[in-house]
Formats: sequence, C-alpha cells, structure tokens
Amino acid sequence: MELRLLTDADADASTLMSHLAFGMPSGAPAAFAIGPDVRRWGIFDGNTLAAKANERTYDSMVGGRRVSTAGVAGVAVAPEYRGTGLARQVMTHLFGAARERGAVIVTLFRTAPALYRSLGFEQVAELVYGEFPTSALRGLRPRTTALRRATPADGRAIRAVYATIAATGSCLLTRDGPAFEISDERLVGSFDGVTLAIDEWGDVVGYLSWNRGSGYDESAALTVVDLLSTTGDGYAALLSAIGAFDAVTPTVRIRTSGQDPMHWVIPGAGWKVREVRPYMLRVIDFAGAVAARGWPPGLAGEVVLDVEDPLCPWNTGRHRLVLEYGTGRVDLAGTPGTSAPVTDAAEAEIAGQEGTAALQAAAPRITPGGLAVLFAGGVPVSTLRRGGLVTGSDRFDTLLDAAFAGPTPAVLDYF
Ligand SMILES: CC(C)(COP(=O)(O)OP(=O)(O)OC[C@H]1O[C@@H](n2cnc3c(N)ncnc32)[C@H](O)[C@@H]1OP(=O)(O)O)[C@@H](O)C(=O)NCCC(=O)NCCS
Repeated sequence: MELRLLTDADADASTLMSHLAFGMPSGAPAAFAIGPDVRRWGIFDGNTLAAKANERTYDSMVGGRRVSTAGVAGVAVAPEYRGTGLARQVMTHLFGAARERGAVIVTLFRTAPALYRSLGFEQVAELVYGEFPTSALRGLRPRTTALRRATPADGRAIRAVYATIAATGSCLLTRDGPAFEISDERLVGSFDGVTLAIDEWGDVVGYLSWNRGSGYDESAALTVVDLLSTTGDGYAALLSAIGAFDAVTPTVRIRTSGQDPMHWVIPGAGWKVREVRPYMLRVIDFAGAVAARGWPPGLAGEVVLDVEDPLCPWNTGRHRLVLEYGTGRVDLAGTPGTSAPVTDAAEAEIAGQEGTAALQAAAPRITPGGLAVLFAGGVPVSTLRRGGLVTGSDRFDTLLDAAFAGPTPAVLDYF
C-alpha cells in the first residue's frame, strides 16, 4: 500500500469513491480540484484507490485570534477495504502533514462519531438548519435601524459584520484565505437578495442573505443563509424584513449555530430544528494551539495537565499551561503520571519552589477528546469529568473554568 497526495490523474477514481461513499450524483460534473486550499490524500493498493481524505486550509477564530485549521472532508474507504484500519491510517498521516504545514487543529463534519472519537476528535459545535412560521415575527418593529438592499460596493461592510462576530465567538471560520476568495459581485449576487441593517449613524451593523424559493402557497418558504447583526435593533430590523414575507412565504428556513441572539428577538413561537450537522475538533498541536488562540485578558495563572495522545505523540506528556493576561503557552514538563517529572535542574530553578511543587503533585489527566472540547471553550470541567474526558486531581478546575469559559463554539460554513 502506498500513501500519497492525489493528483489530477486520480480525479476519476476519487470522484467515483465519493459517489460510492456519499451517494454524490455520478453524472454531475466532477468537483475535483487541487489548489492552495485543498490537499487530497489517498492510500493505493497497487493502482487501486483504497482510501482517501481531503484536507482544506482554513483559519478558525478562537478567543479573537486566528487558529490555523485543517478542515477534513470526503473521508472514504472502498467497501472492500473497510474495517482494515485504512481510515485511521490516512487520518493519522493527515494529522502529521497538517501539523507540518502549520495547522494546530483539525475539524470536520462527521458521519460516524465512533470513528473520529477513536482518532481523538470530539464534538464541539453544531450547524443547525431550523425553521419557524413567518407569522412568529408579527409585530416586530426596529426602533432606529433602517434597511437597504446591498450592492457589490457593500462587500467590505458585509465581510466586516461577519468578521466582528467571528472575532467575539469561538470556532467560526474566518471566511477569508484561498477557500473563501470570491468577488464582491458573487458575495452579493449568489443570493436573491442581501439586505443590510443600517444604524442611525449610517453604519452597516448587520445583514441578511436570502433566497425567495418558489410559489406562494402554504408550502412556500423563504430560505435565510446568514442572519447576522452586531446590535439587537439590527436583528429586529432584519427579522421584520423577513416577517414582511408573511403573506407569501408562511415558513422561514434558516441556518444558525451556537448561541444565536436571534432567538431573543423573535416574538412568536414555533422554532423547529430540521437538520443538525455535528462539528468535531481535534487538537493536533497542543502547544501550537495554546499559543495561537486568544485567552481572557484579565486572567493569569498556571495549570499542570497530563495528556496522553498516542496518535499525536508530541502532545503526550505533563504540560504546564501558562496564561498571562491574554496570551498562553505550554511547556512540556515531563512524562504523564510521573510524580517527579522535573528532571532538568535548570527548569526546576526557573519554575521556582512553588512551580516545582505544583509540577510534582498529582495533575488532572485529559484525553485528546477532552482537549478538543476544552480548547473550543464554553464547557465546564465538571461536565468533562462527568463524560470521562478529564480525570484525576481537581485542584486546577476553577482556573481551567475561567480560562476556557469562552463563548459557545459555533460554525456557519459546511464543508
Ligand atoms: C467510515 C469509513 C471511512 C471507515 O473506514 P474504515 O477503513 O473501515 O475505518 P478503520 O478500519 O480505519 O476504523 C478505525 C476505527 O473507527 C471505527 N469505525 C470505523 N467505521 C465506523 C463506523 N461506521 N461506525 C463506528 N465506528 C467505526 C473502527 O471500529 C475503528 O475503531 P478502532 O480503531 O478503535 O478499532 C468507511 O466505512 C466509509 O468509507 N464509509 C462511508 C463514507 C463515510 O461515512 N465517511 C465518513 C465521512 S465523515
């Protein structure tokens, strides 16, 4: 078996495998591209493609900073080769290769949870497709926010709204870089309409991208792709624009994720979840991930953690996580579970009396899945303990909770 990058010559085999795995229409034009935003890994048995996985280049915003991310999609193994460890093999290779190019986390939308869990992923967010009756918006009136249809000249303002929201959230993709390079014309023109919310100072504070759908009978629905605002009155204005479709589209379908303030503005009842796409994360470079993400600016302290990560062995060890008012770093302090991990006298001296004592005492143990949930933020350590993702000493739990209290993770782009 040979593990290598796919080339254009492998396009047909790869497309056929996607068809057999995911039921992609076989007659459709092949969406096989290799470029700066995607690498495709394959395992070959002679000339036969036996397994594959695609790795996309993204950045996620965590704690207000960019975290280099490998977005994995199209993981598939030919039926005859399933159950022989090929998915594990191609994914483990991808972890190392992604880390080499600077990625510190891997994320994906999963089908089989157990497969990815055994590879160190854990679910951190959900992309939710929901709906509510348009009549639920009756009576909604913005106070000061006005509405205007966007033109390509508003591209910058639309991107700025998304960027502001991504910067204050956790895990949202940055929507820039090679995977998101689209013109302002397409950004606005890919929808039936993009409607802007404009505050009393003339600034764009939110936008709504929507498709009208067909018909005006009881089955007609307005589909909202993005509904994002940085102000409550912006939500009221954008939702009132949707409410004005009441007579012709009785249903609103909408994509959402995480804690969406929209729910605090909709006056009526009837919200229903139609479809959920679970999003999983894996930390492939613990030290790199800690250095990359942002941390609470008002917090300083040290935590000692034991990590056991056989698939990314560079993560394994007793780590000292040091937080200093908005920045973080990880020092590898020894082998997990050892009572006296500090063998380097110089390091012991640097750590000082207190630091050395902390390193030598019992430390909490965290699984790769626990690391994923903790890193994304918003889940208390007590919950991780209940799920078996953290065990052992609880002496750092209060500090860990403060450090990872972060916003509820969210994702708004399917890949
Ligand atoms: C899912 C798929 C990629 C797994 O490939 P595979 O080569 O059979 O997987 P592996 O043999 O490497 O299995 C690795 C681990 O995952 C587990 N696993 C694999 N498929 C699983 C499934 N469908 N459900 C639960 N666990 C699964 C295995 O038991 C194994 O666990 P272990 O190492 O602890 O024993 C393959 O069945 C496939 O192509 N399915 C159709 C497409 C698909 O669902 N792709 C995933 C898209 S997100």
